[in-house]
Amino acid sequence: LVLPPCDFTVFGGTGDLALRKLLPGLYEQERRRQLPAGTRIIGVSRSPLDDAGYRDLVTRALFEHVAEDHLEAGALHRLTARLHHLTLDVGSAEGWDRLHGLLKDRPDRPAGEEATRIHYLAVASGLFGPICDRLDDLGLVTPQCRVVLEKPIGADLASSRQVNDAVGRVFEERQIFRIDHYLGKESVQNLLVTRFANVFLEPIWNSRWVDHVQITVAETLGVGDRGGYYDQAGALRDMVQNHLLQLLCLVAMEPPSYVGGDAHDAVRDEKLKVLRALAPLTGDDVDRATVRGQYTTYGTELGHPSTTETFVALRAEVQNWRWSGVPFYLRTGKRLARQESTIEVVFKEPPHAMFPDSEGVTTPNRLTIRMQPDEGMQLHLTAKHPGPGGIRLHPASLDLSWAEAFDERSPEPYERLLRDVMRGVPTLFMRRDEVEAAWGWVEPILARWHEAGVEPVRYHPGTEGPAAAERLLARDGRTWQEGT
Ligand code: BG6
Repeated sequence: LVLPPCDFTVFGGTGDLALRKLLPGLYEQERRRQLPAGTRIIGVSRSPLDDAGYRDLVTRALFEHVAEDHLEAGALHRLTARLHHLTLDVGSAEGWDRLHGLLKDRPDRPAGEEATRIHYLAVASGLFGPICDRLDDLGLVTPQCRVVLEKPIGADLASSRQVNDAVGRVFEERQIFRIDHYLGKESVQNLLVTRFANVFLEPIWNSRWVDHVQITVAETLGVGDRGGYYDQAGALRDMVQNHLLQLLCLVAMEPPSYVGGDAHDAVRDEKLKVLRALAPLTGDDVDRATVRGQYTTYGTELGHPSTTETFVALRAEVQNWRWSGVPFYLRTGKRLARQESTIEVVFKEPPHAMFPDSEGVTTPNRLTIRMQPDEGMQLHLTAKHPGPGGIRLHPASLDLSWAEAFDERSPEPYERLLRDVMRGVPTLFMRRDEVEAAWGWVEPILARWHEAGVEPVRYHPGTEGPAAAERLLARDGRTWQEGT
């Protein structure tokens, strides 16, 4: 597929996201020679940098964030030659004519044929509307343009609607790419393939055979220098509203008619149905079904006391034919014991105990989907322990490790997603209705915490999180699966 040249403008071009994820993602594309010929990358920020200064800054960031064995002089040279920097305060009306000049000045394009313009808004979502308006005023928005929005979009349903309205006045929905980088993870896409390119799971993927589902995204890092943003957001807005609910959708959704091709909405339609089927958590349901936590050193790290949560555990239910009565337990937190993201689908016990005289233990069948680190899958079974004499039952597992099964390195999510933006493929991006449905579900939880003054319970860094999260499952006679 030969793509036309692209002008990739990153608003927030010197920010953490740009330097840690976006430019390394573009570099990997460059290394694979996937960037369209004639592509330019324009970093926009308030920093007083010229092109040379920006090239230096980006080069240093690439040395820090790209795998050492991927650093190639040729690719580095090709990528940095594409870089430009424009000093611009996007909150002010001044200086936009220079962006106009740069984007309109493409001697390599015949008159009337413009480059594909991609505007990546790696800034706070309050600036999305004003930036889109300015681009529109300058005549920089054409049908070939795309805009990429970083999460979180707004801080609640009303503000996310305002942001979506403001962007939607300038760009059509087909031009808007709302990024959730979890959808770009190989392991997450593989979940779709595992579910729908095989026959054996589908017949048991329902309330008849599944006892419950656990989704864990555990991080060892704290908030670091992102405190300014994070303290306003908290774990529910930062992780649950987007990443964890998207994972839940992919586990719970009905088979879409297609994945790929031009059927960009098939997957998104099915995810939306799941979000709309989530049983609302309101009032004192929230007290029973959610746990709000904060690690004990958070305030010190931040520099002031705070009641923002750095940990959430909750119990959700999808009210539809397939999942009625099956709890989905979600949890995520910072400064936990392990860096680990997993989905556990725990099956019911066999209907009839056929080995009453056997020794040993049986555990329920369980499918573990390890998203990171060490992507893979494990199917936990009960097997016969080898040996003469009576039957002795023993837990065993079928293991699939991506690193062992495939030679290829998994691309980083941003690499994959940026390529999709350039190709104009929106399947792995969130549609407006999905984002708003997710906010609609999360908002009453935030409201209840606020109204009832629910303070986060403290947990020590390096632990599994607050004990209340254990009790959430213990009340249902279940436990979290740890360290698989
Ligand atoms: C981001 C959150 O969206 O995802 C961060 O804002 C979080 O707080 C990060 O650390 C986790 O992503 P990953 O890919 O490292 O699991």
